[in-house]
Amino acid sequence: MIPFLIIATTLFLSSVIAADEAFPSIPTTFYVAKTLSDDLKPIRREVYGEGKIFDITHRYTQDMPVRESSEGVKPFLRLTTSMKNQSLSNTSEMKLSVHTGTHLDAPGHFHDKYYDAGFDSDSLDLQILNGPALLVDVPRDKNITGEVMKSPHIPKGVPRVLFRILNTDRRLMFEKEFDSSFARFMMDGAKWLVENTDIKLIGLDYLSFAAYEEAPETHKFILGERVSILYISLLKIIPVEALKLDDVEVGMYSLHCLPLRLPGAEGAPTRCILIK
Ligand SMILES: *[C@@H]1O[C@H](CO)[C@@H](O)[C@H](O)[C@H]1NC(C)=O
Ligand SMILES: *[C@@H]1O[C@H](CO)[C@@H](O)[C@H](O)[C@H]1NC(C)=O
Ligand SMILES: *[C@@H]1O[C@H](CO)[C@@H](O)[C@H](O)[C@H]1NC(C)=O
Repeated sequence: MIPFLIIATTLFLSSVIAADEAFPSIPTTFYVAKTLSDDLKPIRREVYGEGKIFDITHRYTQDMPVRESSEGVKPFLRLTTSMKNQSLSNTSEMKLSVHTGTHLDAPGHFHDKYYDAGFDSDSLDLQILNGPALLVDVPRDKNITGEVMKSPHIPKGVPRVLFRILNTDRRLMFEKEFDSSFARFMMDGAKWLVENTDIKLIGLDYLSFAAYEEAPETHKFILGERVSILYISLLKIIPVEALKLDDVEVGMYSLHCLPLRLPGAEGAPTRCILIK
């Protein structure tokens, strides 16, 4: 009896540790045995390791907003085989725009010739998508103009900047209805950024970094095309959109963004995290 208890206790303790450390959202079998009740709930978190890792990706849900719609993404995930229907496993498939939720834009999004040439989400440089990044707060009462760009005092040499603007305060990504009044980059803000900083990646807190109905040229400008001979690089800046920047302090982090590898797609859902 006593050896059994010791073994059981050891298994119990190791299961708790395993559940906490390796796969926090998938309780182990031991964990199941421990509870024997209905508290079998996955742990969902925004922050890991007491402030070491911040998940700045929005959960992909049917209620997240999508461009020009009041109805949200709508159901995009379905079970094609279900254990409830005597299948051996549960298997889901999904169908959604590559510009849904936290995602990035590839140059082909606004440049047809780059689209044809294959500048897709698979062609983006993981060295730009991963590395030191600065999270800044931008004045909330204005869109991002050249003047506004001066205020966060972004030092030269900083390659990645995440801009927290009014969209985070307004919690727009948590509203099903698309809000076209979202705070965004204005053309002269984008120009200022290219001319005065070394930024290669920008992160914004709503579905689009600029309003492209009115100003497709802002997208074109950021994504690549340069009229001036000063800009020789074809693919200048990667925009990451709809980041979840709530409850993260401003400052330097290590950013890690990994887009799905989708040849032919001019964007991709992307998991982004910040490591302190
Ligand atoms: C199970 O099968 C029934 C009957 O074909 C179908 O109506 C139902 O949607 C299926 N459920 C799932 C979860 O696949
Ligand atoms: C399989 O899918 C059903 C929904 O049809 C769900 O209730 C069940 O928990 C799933 N089972 C497993 C093992 O994931
Ligand atoms: C940004 O521009 C949009 C479109 O003109 C406008 O609706 C919105 O109020 C502006 N936001 C701010 C903070 O000025």
